[in-house]
Amino acid sequence: MRILQIGVGDPVGRPDVSRASRTVKEQEMEKAAETQYPVHELIAKRWSPRAFEPRPVPSEAVRSLLEAARWAASSFNEQPWRFIVARREDSEEFERMLGCLMEGNRSWAKDAGVLILTAAKEAFTRNDRPNRSAVHDVGLAAGNLSLQATDLGLRVHQMAGIDLEKIRETYRVPEGYQPVTGIAIGYPGSVERLPEPLRAPEIAPRERKPQSELVFSGTWDNPAPW
Ligand SMILES: Cc1cc2nc3c(=O)[nH]c(=O)nc-3n(C[C@H](O)[C@H](O)[C@H](O)COP(=O)(O)O)c2cc1C
Repeated sequence: MRILQIGVGDPVGRPDVSRASRTVKEQEMEKAAETQYPVHELIAKRWSPRAFEPRPVPSEAVRSLLEAARWAASSFNEQPWRFIVARREDSEEFERMLGCLMEGNRSWAKDAGVLILTAAKEAFTRNDRPNRSAVHDVGLAAGNLSLQATDLGLRVHQMAGIDLEKIRETYRVPEGYQPVTGIAIGYPGSVERLPEPLRAPEIAPRERKPQSELVFSGTWDNPAPW
């Protein structure tokens, strides 16, 4: 595991390996993927920590993340994604959104700088037919957001563990839209901040199935030979 130090002078908090201004406890982990084939650095670097340093994220950075999301591809360019955002500075709003997460997620997401709830518009605007790709496209937008965040020295942890009914009520989500995920975004924090049971998973190596289990050719389950 490589240890990376966090810079303190950069307005959006890009990691700065040259600065030795933080204690060991405050250091973040960098769990870059051990890939089978080369990938872009941002893809390898992105991971889903639970340990965040409890500090706000500047509004320009939040807007950049949402801009990256906005420019994702979508079926018929429907852009079915919607985002409800609560920033740490607005503590009342932040608490309200935290209350829409499942308890297990609340225990660590409380330290995030920004919380987002995503929702999908279920039908195409052009013909009111069901949009089979709506949730898929929300995922693409969240993927863009995650990579942009990585580039800004931020970390992202997506959550399926959200209270769908509470979200509908709290934010008056209209019919025709469905809540999809929660997203916690923030600066990397110390593992010591986490409740004990979450510390081991935080430092465990990241794992993926091999391509041979996922990539087929000719027929189902037949690993691509090339
Ligand atoms: C749609 C989605 C839902 C997830 N839901 C949760 C969740 O509710 N709680 C949680 O702790 N992690 C959640 N995760 C994080 C995954 O567990 C994590 O992405 C996975 O273990 C791979 O790890 P990595 O992102 O660090 O590569 C979710 C991730 C995604 C993409």
